[in-house]
Amino acid sequence: MEKKNIEVNKDYWDKFYQSNFKHTPSQFCVCVLTEIPDDAVIVELGSGNGRDSLYFASQGHVTVALDLSHEAIESCKKESKKRDVEHATFVQADLTSIEDVSTAISSARDKAEDNTVIFYSRFVMHSLDDNQEQAILNTLSTCMQKDELIYFEFRSKEDELLDKHFGGHYRRYVDTDVFYQRLTDLGYQIEYNHIGQGMAKYKEEDPFVVRIIAKKQ
Ligand SMILES: C[S@@+](CC[C@H](N)C(=O)[O-])C[C@H]1O[C@@H](n2cnc3c(N)ncnc32)[C@H](O)[C@@H]1O
Repeated sequence: MEKKNIEVNKDYWDKFYQSNFKHTPSQFCVCVLTEIPDDAVIVELGSGNGRDSLYFASQGHVTVALDLSHEAIESCKKESKKRDVEHATFVQADLTSIEDVSTAISSARDKAEDNTVIFYSRFVMHSLDDNQEQAILNTLSTCMQKDELIYFEFRSKEDELLDKHFGGHYRRYVDTDVFYQRLTDLGYQIEYNHIGQGMAKYKEEDPFVVRIIAKKQ
């Protein structure tokens, strides 16, 4: 991906996370928690202010969380110290960098020993452009092992015309058919997918999102 676009994204999210400290976990996070083994290690891709990673950690999951924004990562570190959370690690990383992502996944595997590693990414795919999306999917297909699961939630193309609470930054309304095909071509089986509203309501906004669970073959 072009450096320029990565820097624009980073500037926006750095500013956003200077003042966004709400740590209520997302509905998706809570939903995923009901499905995964108690001792699963979580790799969160694009963790923002850590609302979900900190909640996973509070429920006993060793968590490794990555985000491009320095501000977001610093605020996650501060919050985890405040809450005395020891088993969450926050790393500034670019999801489009195979080196950044593979290093973080290796560290999660070291922590996991024989436990399951779960991959999780919420509201990130629509904040990447198409090339960035392909880069992270390619990296994941190389780094994920057979039978490992990834959980995605992001805005789908059905959401494009709806009003938004936060404006002024890059969003791409993902064509889910293309996304499913990419996953399939990279050796994933789609275990579950659902597009709809009511899953990520925020104030006056009720976006169309897709939830996907995909298993590496
Ligand atoms: C809409 S926020 C979602 C944050 C969090 N997952 C949540 O649900 O609240 C999108 C996040 O993706 C991160 N992001 C965007 N591009 C990225 C990249 N290339 N590498 C890593 N993180 C990125 C941003 O910094 C931001 O924190």
